[in-house]
Amino acid sequence: MSARVVHRYANQLPADDDHPYRTGAWRPNLVEYDADVLELVEGKLPADLAGVYLRNTENPLLPSIGRYHPFDGDGMLHAITFAGGTASYRNRMVKTSGLAAELAAGAPLWAGIIEPPAKSLREGFGARGKMKDASSTDVVVHAGRALTSFYQCGELYAHDPRTLESQGALPWTAGFGGFGVSAHPKLDETTGELLVFGYGTKAPYFQLGVLDARGELVHQQAVPLPGARLPHDLAFTEHYAIVGDFPLFWDPELLAQGVHRPRWYPQLPTRFGVVPRKGGEIRWFEAAPTYVLHFINAYEDGETIVVDGYFQSDPMSRPDPADGPWAGLKKMVDVHSMQARPHRWRLDLATGKVSEERLFEQISEFPSINGRVGGRRHRYAWTMTAKPGWFLFDGLCRLDLETGATQRFAYPDGVFASESPMAPRPNARAEDDGYVVTFTTDTVRDLSECHVFDAAHIDAGPVAKLRLPERISSGTHACWTAA
Ligand SMILES: [Fe+2]
Repeated sequence: MSARVVHRYANQLPADDDHPYRTGAWRPNLVEYDADVLELVEGKLPADLAGVYLRNTENPLLPSIGRYHPFDGDGMLHAITFAGGTASYRNRMVKTSGLAAELAAGAPLWAGIIEPPAKSLREGFGARGKMKDASSTDVVVHAGRALTSFYQCGELYAHDPRTLESQGALPWTAGFGGFGVSAHPKLDETTGELLVFGYGTKAPYFQLGVLDARGELVHQQAVPLPGARLPHDLAFTEHYAIVGDFPLFWDPELLAQGVHRPRWYPQLPTRFGVVPRKGGEIRWFEAAPTYVLHFINAYEDGETIVVDGYFQSDPMSRPDPADGPWAGLKKMVDVHSMQARPHRWRLDLATGKVSEERLFEQISEFPSINGRVGGRRHRYAWTMTAKPGWFLFDGLCRLDLETGATQRFAYPDGVFASESPMAPRPNARAEDDGYVVTFTTDTVRDLSECHVFDAAHIDAGPVAKLRLPERISSGTHACWTAA
């Protein structure tokens, strides 16, 4: 493998850093590389795997003001492009205005999510306000652009999906709905449309938008909520967007005093808003209280809307003091503490009632589907298992929602995967006809690989392993885009 160093950033983090999400598998990367041909270390790279696997990661370059939360970190994109049985790789920092300002200042300017906004030295973005828009949470490819986004809302930053060349922020996104745009824009591969949303602390608290296949914002409408909420994801069907109003939100009395303390209100129901994608009357459905971090998919089944996602049985569990000084932080990002399990809600448009059921007992999260069935009836999901107590993916699951069958692949201790999207084979004949792609962070051998699985047989292990130039940091979301 020949990898060229494109840029090297100075390491400005404390030399004796002991933060669990800036060390180990979350050790940030400082070098940007171009690698034209990756070395195949095991198996055979399928000749019909054609497209780009993109992963965004939280990759802090500067120390934090006060306490650091792993989702505060600056975005770094990693991209592997597959064509004709070979693979190339690049990684680049997401060139946000916030990162540029901090690098110019040589010091952090914004406090993160677990510090009061008043500690920030500049105005900024975010549902909470005074946050740096790190654009590090999510990535989606739409209208030929790789768009990175931030879970607290900010701008959408555009990139060439192969070269990762920065194309800057989409101009309309900063002021979208008064909030900016959240992570988890949703791509409808059937129509080419992208559904986006933003949320914040000012009424009507939620804004929905639709981009056409060329990337133009063609529709937006407010989705009024009873107060400031903390939605993270969106679901959609052929005709509707599905908005979640979950009873976990900033305590309104404290919020009125400028204090942002998330609180769980189990006496309140979950509400799902069914919003016509082209605009119109919103219908609300009540369900058992929970918090959904990520939806799997949704679709219309006659007069019923089926919503699959992760039900949390304990959205705000108490930290264990025995877990040391990082106990509170570790609980915030541990899907085992949340007890996140795949769940199905059926919203009956005729009666207005909801029926719901648990789909699998196995705790997992960060689901992917075959993008071609997004918003349409799906059968399979590929999801991540996590190391208990940690935001680290220790394996993959393939869930068959029709039969209830599960396949699993577990990594050895100290080896972690990335969110692992499904890459359909060109001219695929079945929903699971294709591949699943992931990057590993191997803390035992101090290296990273790209692993390619047969999507129908993930329990058989990777069919190909490619070596990356350097061990990459763990992170949050990833996506696949076909060639
Ligand atoms: Fe997310």
